[in-house]
Amino acid sequence: MILVTAAHGNQGRLLVPRLVAAGAALRACVRTDASAQRVRAAGVTEVVVGDITDPRVMARAMDGVAKVYYVGPTLHPEERQMGFAAVDVARAAGVKHFVFSSVLHAITTDLIQHEVKRDIEEHLLSSGLEFTILQPANYMLPQRLTPAFEEGIFRLSWALDRYQSMVDLSDVTEVAAIVLADSERHAGATYELVAPGRHTAYDLATILSGVAGREISAERIDPELFIKQFLGANPHPYQARVARAISARYSSHDFIGNPNVLTWLLRRQPTTYAQFAQKHFEASQASKGRR
Ligand SMILES: NC(=O)c1ccc[n+]([C@@H]2O[C@H](COP(=O)([O-])OP(=O)(O)OC[C@H]3O[C@@H](n4cnc5c(N)ncnc54)[C@H](OP(=O)(O)O)[C@@H]3O)[C@@H](O)[C@H]2O)c1
Repeated sequence: MILVTAAHGNQGRLLVPRLVAAGAALRACVRTDASAQRVRAAGVTEVVVGDITDPRVMARAMDGVAKVYYVGPTLHPEERQMGFAAVDVARAAGVKHFVFSSVLHAITTDLIQHEVKRDIEEHLLSSGLEFTILQPANYMLPQRLTPAFEEGIFRLSWALDRYQSMVDLSDVTEVAAIVLADSERHAGATYELVAPGRHTAYDLATILSGVAGREISAERIDPELFIKQFLGANPHPYQARVARAISARYSSHDFIGNPNVLTWLLRRQPTTYAQFAQKHFEASQASKGRR
């Protein structure tokens, strides 16, 4: 039995159907009943619903599972404690393989959510559990494309001329499934998951323009406005701090990685940003056609 946390999140929505299709015995953990219904509809029979900051929920989720795919929910103020607890509870529950979805360059302490993951990696390393650590670069997210295709403006809250490496979550979850299916081969490994290419916001806007067949320009949004738009008028102070740190770090430094490890794991070229954008543009056109 494999436990997947954050099972209806960005990764979970892709990983769960992949594991179901592979015939894996699966337990999914989500916070809300609405998401529980959706993961059940995707074919998962065992679902734990609850807040994993509650140790009883974490213990229920881990009870009797052999493998864990642990993703900490985005911007959670208790991400560090939650990650430590996941490792400790897994150890107590006799989990045989703990796969931690961390982040590329977890050692970058300017980025708060990276420092947290660095600490969780260290805790995992010291736990005695068999582990694999996946370190994805910045996610290629379809929700970022929709406003670009609809309004002709691709917005980011950091300097438009800084380079970034990214990764398609379809590739990340393909690797997750490979690693979970062959624990022995991947135990003890830390894998950086990075697509080919390093792009500025201007480069990304040019790629999107080519895909959409019309001009899409890059625009920098003020970080405070970004926080209001995405976290609301009264954001949690921790989340606002993380968002400010992201804008500051990505404005003062490039964030780049190398695709060799991902290419080796997939045994093919990883998905490029252009391929990702093309796929989602076609999907959005097809769904418009159906409306
Ligand atoms: N965005 C990036 O570019 C990037 C890059 C590298 C690494 N990361 C890291 O990836 C992680 C996020 O991955 P993701 O985007 O796949 O996840 P996500 O979309 O943030 O996960 C959302 C899921 O987590 C569940 N959840 C939220 N809070 C919970 C709680 N307290 N207890 C139990 N379940 C809870 C939600 O349940 P409900 O659906 O029921 O609400 C939902 O299913 C973060 O740690 C982030 O730092 C992100």
